[in-house]
Amino acid sequence: MSRKSKTKPRVKKIVEISLNSSPFDAGDIVLKSVGPMDAIAHKKLCQSSANYLGNFLGWAVDAHNWSLKQHIGWLTRHMKIAQPYESYGTFYNDNLVGFFSYFVGTSFLTTQICYYVDKRMAGKGIASEVLETLVQKAFYMKGFEAVELHIDVDNIASQKVTKRVGFEPVQDYRCARSGKKGSGKMQLWVKISPTATSGISLDQYRSESFDYLAPAYLNYAVAIHAINSIKVLAEELKAYLSGTGFSPKI
Ligand SMILES: CC(C)(COP(=O)(O)OP(=O)(O)OC[C@H]1O[C@@H](n2cnc3c(N)ncnc32)[C@H](O)[C@@H]1OP(=O)(O)O)[C@@H](O)C(=O)NCCC(=O)NCCS
Repeated sequence: MSRKSKTKPRVKKIVEISLNSSPFDAGDIVLKSVGPMDAIAHKKLCQSSANYLGNFLGWAVDAHNWSLKQHIGWLTRHMKIAQPYESYGTFYNDNLVGFFSYFVGTSFLTTQICYYVDKRMAGKGIASEVLETLVQKAFYMKGFEAVELHIDVDNIASQKVTKRVGFEPVQDYRCARSGKKGSGKMQLWVKISPTATSGISLDQYRSESFDYLAPAYLNYAVAIHAINSIKVLAEELKAYLSGTGFSPKI
């Protein structure tokens, strides 16, 4: 991703740390799972971003006034969402400066990404860099064929991020206004994986003809069925061989 040089210091590098991995030499930004133990940091982030996060995020309008218990509840709810829709706290110099989550998309082939960044860290390229990283992860590690973002037409900062990472607007729709500045006029932005095989395309989104879904779902169902059959056969083979005194490593 090419970026113009700016006078403001920009973030350089991202390192993702899962809960199970040990710490290692980190770049500027560290992405890691967050939970109730991060509630104080989340409270500080929401307080320092009062009248900012809530502009376009309905849930965040009063988040700067939440009690610690409310922050614990909010983080716990996100922590409980199962793979592949996990969330990441974004840390800069050990400080929580943002939050990014995968969320269900319009089909099983796609995922949505939702995000926010601390007001004090705005404009340093954090959202652009982290979004780019999570899009690559969605395509190459999670196997999603497209990533979707739902953005208010008045949310210029988020649109800049989205365009920079290579998303395109495919659909306009209306919904209840979200946040203090939300207009209720939303756009669905999409980026398709270069390795997509189902036939998913921006044009299909634009014309709302999701013809690729039925065959893709059939392939998916056949693959799941094949895995289950192999598991059953392996168990049967194991049971049979155990009667013969032979102990296979399966
Ligand atoms: C949208 C958001 C995540 C962007 O985070 P960020 O780390 O500041 O993003 P980046 O620095 O990568 O890029 C933001 C760009 O928008 C620009 N920008 C910020 N506010 C702007 C505004 N009000 N009008 C025009 N441009 C604006 C920045 O200058 C920057 O552009 P540049 O890199 O060309 O200078 C952050 O503004 C935020 O958390 N907003 C509140 C929550 C929200 O709207 N979340 C997204 C919901 S879809």
